[in-house]
Amino acid sequence: MFYDAVANSHGLQWDPFKALVSPRPIGWISTLGQNGVVNLAPYSFFNAVSTDPHFVMFSSGGRKDSQRNAEETGEFVCSLATFALRGAMNRTSQHVGPEVDELELAGLTPAPSKLVAPPRVKESPVAFECRYWRTIELPGPDSGPGAHSIVLGQVVGVHIDDAAIAEGRVDVTKLKPIARLGYSDYAVIDEVFTLTRP
Ligand SMILES: Cc1cc2nc3c(=O)[nH]c(=O)nc-3n(C[C@H](O)[C@H](O)[C@H](O)COP(=O)(O)O)c2cc1C
Repeated sequence: MFYDAVANSHGLQWDPFKALVSPRPIGWISTLGQNGVVNLAPYSFFNAVSTDPHFVMFSSGGRKDSQRNAEETGEFVCSLATFALRGAMNRTSQHVGPEVDELELAGLTPAPSKLVAPPRVKESPVAFECRYWRTIELPGPDSGPGAHSIVLGQVVGVHIDDAAIAEGRVDVTKLKPIARLGYSDYAVIDEVFTLTRP
């Protein structure tokens, strides 16, 4: 099949777009509100976009708390959402008021970051401490203002659970990251294959 993506005339029951761009890593973004309260939310429009220096991005559909806090405080942290933490990750996607500590709400433990103020998720084996760089606002369908913004930040510190490091390499099968597919579906990385480049 082919469909016009601007008209979004796929004719299916649900928009297949996100199922087609999958798996997507999940950035579990912690920030501090101006009131000092911890905000935590998952973003699957998330990725690493460069290595020298290291930058990551997440895309917010509407100016949600994570975007606002990152812009206002200049800092955010991305913890890795793993299979063991899937329930807690899902709980942090609830819409709650800015006075609610979402890390606490999900039964998680804050661990202090080293270079930025927002805490990381202690139970998560990997976290990136980030300095906010800039936001790119995407246009709407008619080239007017849109709803989505890409928030970019430079990774300034990385935490890795030593238990996931063996022979100088990170063993991703020990981390078991989860990834977002389409609909309400997820995948977990528990198997890896290797291809060397020609
Ligand atoms: C796995 C998962 C991935 C999500 N990815 C995104 C995303 O990429 N962009 C977005 O705007 N919302 C996304 N959401 C919804 C947000 O997590 C949700 O709106 C949350 O309440 C936003 O919190 P905040 O206002 O504290 O930033 C996702 C939810 C889940 C469960």
